[in-house]
Amino acid sequence: MTRREGILGLALSVVFIVFSSPLCRGFIPRDLSAIVSTKRYRHLPAPLLATLDDHDDASNTVTTSSTSKDRNDVVVTGVTLKVAFDSNWGVAEMADDAPSVRFTCDQSLDMVHRLRGDSDAVLVGRGTVERDDCSLTVRRGVTADKQPLRVILDPRLTLILAEVHEGAQYKVLTDGLPTVIYHCVSDVRLESLNLLDSVTLVYMESNLPNDTQEDLPEGNRPGRYASPGAVVEHLRDNFGVHHLMVEGGPQTAINFLQPENLIDRAILVRAPISFQEPFPSGMSTETLQDAGLELVCSKESGVDTIDYWARPGESWPTDPPEDWP
Ligand SMILES: NC(=O)c1ccc[n+]([C@@H]2O[C@H](COP(=O)([O-])OP(=O)(O)OC[C@H]3O[C@@H](n4cnc5c(N)ncnc54)[C@H](OP(=O)(O)O)[C@@H]3O)[C@@H](O)[C@H]2O)c1
Repeated sequence: MTRREGILGLALSVVFIVFSSPLCRGFIPRDLSAIVSTKRYRHLPAPLLATLDDHDDASNTVTTSSTSKDRNDVVVTGVTLKVAFDSNWGVAEMADDAPSVRFTCDQSLDMVHRLRGDSDAVLVGRGTVERDDCSLTVRRGVTADKQPLRVILDPRLTLILAEVHEGAQYKVLTDGLPTVIYHCVSDVRLESLNLLDSVTLVYMESNLPNDTQEDLPEGNRPGRYASPGAVVEHLRDNFGVHHLMVEGGPQTAINFLQPENLIDRAILVRAPISFQEPFPSGMSTETLQDAGLELVCSKESGVDTIDYWARPGESWPTDPPEDWP
């Protein structure tokens, strides 16, 4: 070995030792979720999105290169609600043998994925994950810088307990993409739950105390009600969520609409079908009006109709409204 080769070898060894040291690793930025006290976070290889098997569309591809000039120019903040209905304000087929399937047309499904792509986080209640095993990711060839954070309201940690005790395998808990679960269980023993580090638990004290029986929002139970306003604030402060999409189900939608009037705009997809046994939403145009929203316009989306609702005085992110999402 020449003297020159010896010096080069020594220099490479020094570079390797420095960059593999714990000191250096300490400077690698950590995921934002790591600042939440009840979290567990472990870096897992991101799964290939093409392998996700969601039943709400035929194409699982996400495109990260940008092709949609209109969407990229739009900056949206606040809370956007999206719900799809049949002709009787039902949100799902409840007939015994009916599989959980999407019932809106391709154009409407594309719109939902664009909306997810323009959202920092997508929120659903425990019932939607249980029934649909949704992945809540951006697919169908829609452009997105990154997948939105998935947020689940599961006050009793029912989904996780079903995994621990019954072997349930929900995508939002197993696919390795980040999911945050807001719950009201004060004494969680994390080590007993065997969670992936992509799953973050956030405890929220219920603001319906156990001994309060009056004035409960319909469908909610004492001791397990997380204030949607507190959730929105926590998501903003801890996860940088400035535009939240609330994707259902109806119980969660109503909780965001009524007690605290948190919905800034709502996108209602009305499909021209009638479920055999509809899952009733408990919603109507009055629900939206009571929450301080007014109808901006209605437009056709394939065979469906989309109603755009917003707070009076707040313009839609685009003019005309159907340009977004
Ligand atoms: N058509 C659509 O656009 C659409 C969208 C989503 C879902 N769906 C359908 O809707 C059905 C499920 O309806 P759902 O109303 O049961 O679903 P959901 O709203 O997803 O889940 C309801 C549950 O979430 C928890 N929750 C909601 N708000 C909470 C809060 N503020 N604090 C604490 N916990 C809260 C409660 O869990 P606990 O019961 O544990 O207290 C509540 O019972 C499914 O059939 C699904 O397919 C349809």
